[in-house]
Amino acid sequence: MNYPDYRPRRMRRTEGLRRMVRETRLSVDDFVYPLFVVPGSGIEKPISSLPGQYNYSVDKATDAAARAADLGIPSVILFGIPEHKDAVGSEAWKDSGVVQKAIRSIKKARPNLVVQADACFCEYTDHGHCGVLHDGELDNDASLENLARAVVSYAKAGVDVVAPSGMLDGFVGACRASLDEQGFDQTGIMAYSAKYASAYYGPFREAVDSAPQSGDRRGHQMDYCNVAEAVREAAMDAAEGADIVMVKPALAYLDVIRAVSDEINLPIAAYNVSGEYAMIEAAARNGWIDRDRIILETLTGIRRAGADIIITYHALDAAKLLAR
Ligand code: PBG
Ligand code: ZN
Repeated sequence: MNYPDYRPRRMRRTEGLRRMVRETRLSVDDFVYPLFVVPGSGIEKPISSLPGQYNYSVDKATDAAARAADLGIPSVILFGIPEHKDAVGSEAWKDSGVVQKAIRSIKKARPNLVVQADACFCEYTDHGHCGVLHDGELDNDASLENLARAVVSYAKAGVDVVAPSGMLDGFVGACRASLDEQGFDQTGIMAYSAKYASAYYGPFREAVDSAPQSGDRRGHQMDYCNVAEAVREAAMDAAEGADIVMVKPALAYLDVIRAVSDEINLPIAAYNVSGEYAMIEAAARNGWIDRDRIILETLTGIRRAGADIIITYHALDAAKLLAR
């Protein structure tokens, strides 16, 4: 392949040629749209750090999910903000909790939309940590028991996929075992396998009021200096029965997405997190970047790194851009 016999520019000359040799395709099929569900009705409260995203009551979340479905987006993922927080986050496994209600309502309105539910306790505990605390430390195995209760309760409500996000050791196995025991062997698990302790979650924590009251999450979320560990985590989750493994965040972690997708023979999801969204929106609002082009370039980059599925707050916008 030497110049002048091979001229790379030949295949870039027209849009038709470029389309023909394109290696990565971004499609509406790739997207999962996150929704934040709060108690009440008729609520559609803007989240200031995530412009364009809202806290929705169940009725409004159902409308938003329907809008996503109408744009061809295959899936939504639900996060709940409970009525009351307590030390263990017991509302997470209440059959009348907001997420359980939203699952029922969305599945009824749009049976073909894949409904996923994030399963963690930081939104549900008064201390903001991802499970049960003992002497100020997150008690892994006690938290697993509660996690198992929560995912079974989501499964009862009709969720298609649960997404345990707490980075607890053994969380996929614990979820799989309880789901199977309760007769939910068809409920899928998308594991937050390689979730890093990241400053990019800032706007999300404002949206769900889940910032830890004291300390941080570095004792369970991963150190961002590591990549071999991400592959190890994903392999463990695969062995415990994960159906999808996830890397999170996405943009500062494209090498991790590549490594995990090279090693793990499962669909790979990437979470294009709140801070990544907020940075694009802030720069766009200042007129510093071309928002539409940046959105498509960013999401395509995540696909090119090896992600099959992208969880993104830009899902609706990107779906519209791709349909043009
Ligand atoms: C935990 C959870 C978090 C996110 C998804 N699930 C936050 C955290 O670990 O603090 C972050 C999502 C985002 O930033 O968009 N339930
Ligand atoms: Zn958590």
